[in-house]
Amino acid sequence: MKKYNVAVVGATGAVGEEMRLVLEERKFPVEKLNLFASGRSAGKIYNFAGEKIEVQELKENSFSGIDIALFSAGDEVSARFAPLAIQQGTIVVDNCKYFRMDPEVPLVVPEVNPHDLEWHRGLIANPNCSTIQMVVALKPIYDEVGIERVVVATYQSVSGTGKEAIEELENQAASITSGEKYEIKAYPYQIAYNALPHIGSFTENGYTSEEMKMLDETRKIFGDNNIRVAATTVRVPVYRAHSEVVHVETKKKISVQRAREILSAFPGVKVIDNPEKLEYPLPLFSEGKDEVFVGRIREDISTENGLVMWVVSDNLRKGAALNAVQIAEHLIK
Ligand SMILES: NC(=O)c1ccc[n+]([C@@H]2O[C@H](COP(=O)([O-])OP(=O)(O)OC[C@H]3O[C@@H](n4cnc5c(N)ncnc54)[C@H](OP(=O)(O)O)[C@@H]3O)[C@@H](O)[C@H]2O)c1
Repeated sequence: MKKYNVAVVGATGAVGEEMRLVLEERKFPVEKLNLFASGRSAGKIYNFAGEKIEVQELKENSFSGIDIALFSAGDEVSARFAPLAIQQGTIVVDNCKYFRMDPEVPLVVPEVNPHDLEWHRGLIANPNCSTIQMVVALKPIYDEVGIERVVVATYQSVSGTGKEAIEELENQAASITSGEKYEIKAYPYQIAYNALPHIGSFTENGYTSEEMKMLDETRKIFGDNNIRVAATTVRVPVYRAHSEVVHVETKKKISVQRAREILSAFPGVKVIDNPEKLEYPLPLFSEGKDEVFVGRIREDISTENGLVMWVVSDNLRKGAALNAVQIAEHLIK
């Protein structure tokens, strides 16, 4: 079997660390793994498939001989280094928002639009975490009865902001318990014991950038500019896994029973929906798991053709690292 030289750019971050684990777990055919970060983390050692690998500082010539690079080091790094990597013959799978809406760049969730991988020119964008889990849950419904409109509210974990925000929640919770002073850095307000209706930056229409991503990226992934999406994105004091209440207005009526059937049969989805036994998806039990969990499936009684569901998935896995590795797996098929 052919093996590939693979790089993880942003290897010391919340997503980058998960990428290394997912590559190993899924036995991606890696010849050599190269881990890149900024000069701050150069020299750090990580284990991969029984080997110790030293993190190197990312430089302009870092990509020579690398077949596939998974980027998750922020927009500035992607904007500067992804074109250099492509010039050096590397295929880039990028996790940041910088290239996502570029019409020359496919935006791919393998369960939803794998066909878009066919027209890549060396760069494939990974969608935003909150979009990925939503479109996976929407896809079987879209194919069965069509979708007019989606109204979604998210409950997003702090790991979606990165490593520093995870530490900040830990520190705030511990300091509040022991009556000590604590820092507020990652968000405008304390996140422990709170909920912030603000992810990303506010745009002119009153929505945030995160909320607009859920509209724009969903349209691009489905290749359907008629889908309407109104999102409210909220940061909550959960470490890992985003939860979403998704109201779907369909073109034709679909029963709750049929929705459960097609969701259960869809790759990457696990339906947990036995409210009478108190069984429904929870972020706490989704940590480290690959699936998009769907539960609380019921009719939206406020409209004629509507469904409501509760969709939970680990943002560092399907929302980022796993989706990127699945894209790489499709590329080498
Ligand atoms: N967290 C999520 O759920 C999620 C989901 C989808 C997409 N993303 C996107 O993925 C990216 C990373 O997110 P994260 O949550 O992993 O953030 P993070 O935990 O803050 O990690 C950032 C990573 O980028 C590296 N980095 C920063 N500046 C660099 C530079 N100049 N050169 C090379 N490496 C540099 C850092 O290395 P050092 O150790 O050297 O600082 C670190 O490895 C962001 O663009 C984010 O929007 C995140």
